[in-house]
Amino acid sequence: MIQKTTVDLGSRSYDILIGENIIDTAADHIRPHLKRSKTVIITDENVAIHQLARLRAGLEKGGIEFDVIILPAGEATKSFDHLETLLNKLLSMRLERSDTIIAFGGGVIGDLVGFAASIYLRGINFIQIPTTLLAQVDSSVGGKTGINSKYGKNLIGAFHQPRLVLIDVTTLETLEKRHIIAGYAEIVKYGFINDPDFYNWLEKNGRSLIDGEETGMRALRREAIKKSCEAKAAIVSMDEKESGARALLNLGHTFGHALEAENGYNDDLYHGEAVAIGMILAFQLSERMGLCPPSDVERVKKHFDDISAQSISLFDFNVDNLLKHMQGDKKMSGGKLTFVLVSGIGKAFLSNEVNMETVKSLLKDALKG
Ligand code: GLY
Repeated sequence: MIQKTTVDLGSRSYDILIGENIIDTAADHIRPHLKRSKTVIITDENVAIHQLARLRAGLEKGGIEFDVIILPAGEATKSFDHLETLLNKLLSMRLERSDTIIAFGGGVIGDLVGFAASIYLRGINFIQIPTTLLAQVDSSVGGKTGINSKYGKNLIGAFHQPRLVLIDVTTLETLEKRHIIAGYAEIVKYGFINDPDFYNWLEKNGRSLIDGEETGMRALRREAIKKSCEAKAAIVSMDEKESGARALLNLGHTFGHALEAENGYNDDLYHGEAVAIGMILAFQLSERMGLCPPSDVERVKKHFDDISAQSISLFDFNVDNLLKHMQGDKKMSGGKLTFVLVSGIGKAFLSNEVNMETVKSLLKDALKG
């Protein structure tokens, strides 16, 4: 069974198709979006080992020709250097403006390929086939694309929507559990923002979704991915360029991006892990400001403990450096930081009234454990 959700953006609307083994019939879904029966798959070394043969077979079976570009795996690939190499490769392949490229991988590949697609010949079409949980529930949907710079994460990029998002839940089965837990943070986020019932469901099913018995686990993952994509599609359809509601999707990200930057985008703290820590900090900050009941903060902390999420107390970060990173974030406006705060589970809102001394003392306490 294939489930469909649509991101409603007028003439740029597109479908998110979710299913099991959907990659094996990829050609059927992709063909309507290609102007000629040839494309380029861009992926990374890890995805190439575990999943590329399946996509190759899925396209060959449907008579679609393709070239493949394989990039190194890891956050460091979201760089000017790799963007230049990728664009030059596409130029050397003489890809035309009416052609379509495929981003096949996690968030790094999706963001980089999407950005390349937004500037190659002033913009060509691209399709997302996300293979990690984080990419399936967040980064492949909504058209945020970009690269990192020495000044911070995702500071250079463009809004460029894909023509299709194809999600095969079975690609998650070759991932390490740590990647699943990291991606799960972006799922829980939708519950925290405005869906307390979904959060209740996750409290009950989160553990089994992460590492349950196979058949049940697939069904739970499909359900959680569908819910997440529906939530994201609704927000993006309403506020594509983040002038309001979409900023709620940054819950935990101001803290998270600072932790990642301070850690040098190193693989001992994945993006989703940093976001999980960031969301706990956002709940604690809201509590310190008298906005969120302590019982909700305890519930959130317990849930992240239950799923063995990464803890801030294991890191030895410098608080002043973290604050500096936070002030370099995209979410600065008129010299003030916009935070996503909560008045409880399922009740997130934006605020630029946060006292940085409160943030500083919260970080100091959190880092002590
Ligand atoms: N990941 C947040 C957004 O797409 O807006």
